[in-house]
Amino acid sequence: MPNPMVSPDGRPWVIAAPDVPECKRAIANPELAHYPRLRGEHPRRWQYPSYLVNDAVPWLRSLRELYENPLAFPASLSPEAGLMLHGLVRNMRPRVAVEVGTFVSVSTHWIASALKENGEGATLHCFDDFGPIKRGAWRDAEMLSGREEWVKDRLDRAGLLSLCRLYPGNSPHKLREQRDAFHAMGGVDLAFIDGDHGVYGAVQDFWAIEPVLNTGGYVVFHDIFPDQCGGHNGPREILDRINEISAGLYEKLELYLSPLNYGMGVLRRVG
Ligand SMILES: C[S@@+](CC[C@H](N)C(=O)[O-])C[C@H]1O[C@@H](n2cnc3c(N)ncnc32)[C@H](O)[C@@H]1O
Repeated sequence: MPNPMVSPDGRPWVIAAPDVPECKRAIANPELAHYPRLRGEHPRRWQYPSYLVNDAVPWLRSLRELYENPLAFPASLSPEAGLMLHGLVRNMRPRVAVEVGTFVSVSTHWIASALKENGEGATLHCFDDFGPIKRGAWRDAEMLSGREEWVKDRLDRAGLLSLCRLYPGNSPHKLREQRDAFHAMGGVDLAFIDGDHGVYGAVQDFWAIEPVLNTGGYVVFHDIFPDQCGGHNGPREILDRINEISAGLYEKLELYLSPLNYGMGVLRRVG
């Protein structure tokens, strides 16, 4: 009777987990959050890189206009963070992508434009309450009504509206309503979560998505360094406790961002 733990050439099928010595234990998060820190004056606008100025491409023109709009600062993804997200989508080529927290559609532009370039007919499902945007810290502008129509118009002029489906309302409720539909589409490959940043709200969004998140799929959180991004600690809590609060098993990576290091967390479901 062959030994099921050993391959035909006598090697073990399963490599034993490494015995990690005490001196290699993970260090605490505050010690990791060392770079980059804001030095000097807090910026008041995003600096749109000149190498992305190409008004012949509708989505790039629309993106430039969005970054020039004071509404987009500082809550939207920075151009550098957006490029990273765009690159991830271009490389991993999700079939079903979800965005929680559309706001003025900066992240929507970055993700949907990558899906368009992938050319595989994928859709970005966008969840937001599309409620009023009020003036706040570093935001000297407001939009008290009509945000959903405004976002649709931007996406239309960017040539991206046909790739996006908008779900106005409370995101965890709306996500749960769509679960069967996501399941029928083959599950979610990428979820970008940038909505409610409280612990309860962020966990509810994550739990609403997880039952339809494919193994190998990614969940990306914006704003993971509360000491840098106004104390929003929901995404931080999820990353710190992910394999305790989740049904699945996750690898995680934390990325620093510039010029404001609000941080981005990338989870990959591996079980
Ligand atoms: C930080 S902004 C997102 C920024 C956006 N990703 C960008 O790059 O422009 C957060 C958004 O989440 C929305 N939001 C917060 N809590 C929500 C909830 N419970 N349901 C739906 N939308 C919510 C807010 O209205 C806001 O539009």
